[in-house]
Amino acid sequence: MGLPYFEINGGTRLRGAVQLSGAKNAALPIMAASILCEGDVVLRGVPNVSDVRFLGELLMKLGVHVQRDADGTLRLNARDEMNFKAEYDIVRKMRASICVLGPLLAKRHQAHVAMPGGCAIGDRPVDLHLRAMRQLGADVELVSGDIVAKAKKLRGREMFLGGPFGSTVLGTANAMMAATLAEGTTVIEMAACEPEVTDLAEFLNKCGASITGYGTPRIVVEGVRELAGCEHQIIPDRIEAGTFMVAAAVTNGELTLENGRLDHLMAFVDRLNAVGVNVEKTEKGVVVSSARRLEPVDVTTQPFPGFPTDLQAQLMALLCLADGNSIVTEKIFPDRFLHVAELNRMGAKLRREGATVIVEGVKRLVGAPVMASDLRASAALVLAGLAARGTTRVHRIYHLDRGYDRFDEKLRAVNADIVRKEDGEV
Ligand code: EPU
Repeated sequence: MGLPYFEINGGTRLRGAVQLSGAKNAALPIMAASILCEGDVVLRGVPNVSDVRFLGELLMKLGVHVQRDADGTLRLNARDEMNFKAEYDIVRKMRASICVLGPLLAKRHQAHVAMPGGCAIGDRPVDLHLRAMRQLGADVELVSGDIVAKAKKLRGREMFLGGPFGSTVLGTANAMMAATLAEGTTVIEMAACEPEVTDLAEFLNKCGASITGYGTPRIVVEGVRELAGCEHQIIPDRIEAGTFMVAAAVTNGELTLENGRLDHLMAFVDRLNAVGVNVEKTEKGVVVSSARRLEPVDVTTQPFPGFPTDLQAQLMALLCLADGNSIVTEKIFPDRFLHVAELNRMGAKLRREGATVIVEGVKRLVGAPVMASDLRASAALVLAGLAARGTTRVHRIYHLDRGYDRFDEKLRAVNADIVRKEDGEV
């Protein structure tokens, strides 16, 4: 069987309504948190993407019963607590596997998690995760490429979780999850403020945890003896929302994001407005429409509530068509620019200088065969293809399938000319 790719005929204006899926990056740590829970965990709105399936597989190996209903509801129950090993064969497929570390350690008193490597978006160290576990009293060692952590009892304490690039999303999630069952009070300073961390905290509190301060850089966790299960609705995916906003803008169209939340996307919408894209909250949802002329803007990625790195590539696809020069600076993952060379193949004029890309706006993009390199870069290439003249083939879309739920189907429903095909590429 060949590998799937997208064939896109650009130039159609997108119009209509889009229902956003639940956020992948909220669903993954919440799924991992089921390890901590005594009862059934019922998660609504879990996106049907391959990262969720990978983590489901890993959790099953860790003795969690995982079942997906037809309506997208995921049911999890940690029945068998014998296993505490997350092997390299799964961890290498998905770095987010690291978020089983805190729950395993807190609930099973030991964790053996293969060390995730780097990936297409650059080095991705886990030193802050390890620091958090050590601060809670765990004995943590690296043995032949695996993180081996042990603790009879975790003890709450004050910890600083900032690194050279600011806060850490999954590091905060790991610290918070482990602290729920620790003895005493844990204070996480420089905690990540991302909405996905807030969603995890709200889930844990529904299960009986005692967490305050989430959504701010100072999270306080009072340890409890045990957590029950609960039912929880995953927040809508803000990165999917931002991607569809660019899809509307780049095709001069108009899209309504029915369950879109502007409070999760303030920095992104600020930049879209500066480009000349209208974004309005209405009774039907968030309506995005484009002014014909796109202004160039400067943008720097930052931790939340700043501009999200996960929308940097997509905004760049739009800025390729602005009337002038834009400057895009990456402050979270300084090497997250693999889309630059591919966009240039489509007629963009992009020049990278270290962690900055200078985008010289062009009148039009032209369709070309391009190669997806990571999840968000793939989305940017699809967006460029929607705007380009002619046919674009985006190869290696398995990257895109990791995090976008039925992306091509949703785009087709709002008038995009995009089909999924298979080639003989190996
Ligand atoms: N960092 C360290 N040490 C650590 C952990 C992180 O130096 O121990 C650095 C990273 O190298 C990076 C910065 O801190 O420079 C922030 O990384 P963070 O830990 O916040 O990233 P993450 O938690 O591994 C999540 C998302 C990413 C998203 C980043 C940043 C999930 C599953 N992943 O990763 O999402 O880009 O936060 O917002 O939540 C994606 O969905 O495409 C994606 C890559």
